[in-house]
Amino acid sequence: MLYSPFLPEIGSGAIRRLKCTSRLEDLQSADVIIEAIVESEDVKKKLFSDLDRISKGSAILASNTSSISITRLASATGRPNKVIGMHFMNPPPIMKLVEIVRGADTSDETFMTIKALAERFGKEVICSEDYPGFIVNRILMPMINEAFFTLYTGVATKEDIDSGMKLGTNHPMGPLELADFIGLDVCLSIMKVLYVGLGDNKYWPCPLLVQYVDAGRLGRKRGIGVYTYDKLVEAKLSSRI
Ligand SMILES: NC(=O)c1ccc[n+]([C@@H]2O[C@H](COP(=O)([O-])OP(=O)(O)OC[C@H]3O[C@@H](n4cnc5c(N)ncnc54)[C@H](O)[C@@H]3O)[C@@H](O)[C@H]2O)c1
Repeated sequence: MLYSPFLPEIGSGAIRRLKCTSRLEDLQSADVIIEAIVESEDVKKKLFSDLDRISKGSAILASNTSSISITRLASATGRPNKVIGMHFMNPPPIMKLVEIVRGADTSDETFMTIKALAERFGKEVICSEDYPGFIVNRILMPMINEAFFTLYTGVATKEDIDSGMKLGTNHPMGPLELADFIGLDVCLSIMKVLYVGLGDNKYWPCPLLVQYVDAGRLGRKRGIGVYTYDKLVEAKLSSRI
């Protein structure tokens, strides 16, 4: 059963009020905008610049980025005090954590507003300074990358690597299975941010991870990554989430 802090009627009421649009202009009156597009600094900066022009001056612009500098995203706007990282763990309906990231100029008011909003969503909040990968991916992604090196250098099969970490360290998913769940392209983008931003060879992305992404093996969303997936089963699983 999925965790929900809300009564079912509140949840269904909220879903009825949801509006979908592909026009940025429809965000004109929003108080808070949470961006969750592709993990690319250039693409996000362009969107933040457009959102800065379109949204009202008092609106907070939050990013769900897993690793990219909030300070640099904020620099694409004229309101760096109202730009903040609001990193939901995947899948958001199940995972309790939101990692809040303050850029160099994020104001206390913006931080308090976003923290209160996350808590209203029923989330637990942690706060990170604005350094590559923040807290969670600074620690998680090198482990996933090392799992790829373990596979790449023939130390063990993918199944044994995942079983080892599940049964040996009590992780709910093995690192390769988790990488497929996150998306191998997203994992590679985060490793590149760590490698460039922290300037240490220990963050060098594993060539096997790079090759899988080059081949379009992006994980569960593509039906193939480290493992292959049955499209029908995946569709049923995601509709339950
Ligand atoms: N995958 C995860 O487990 C996970 C977890 C937490 C946070 N995030 C973050 O959430 C964001 C999205 O992750 P994802 O896994 O959905 O990535 P994804 O690459 O699978 O999907 C990104 C989506 O953004 C769309 N997009 C690209 N450019 C756009 C634009 N200019 N305007 C509107 N839409 C655009 C793409 O068409 C695509 O549908 C990233 O910043 C990622 O780091 C991902």
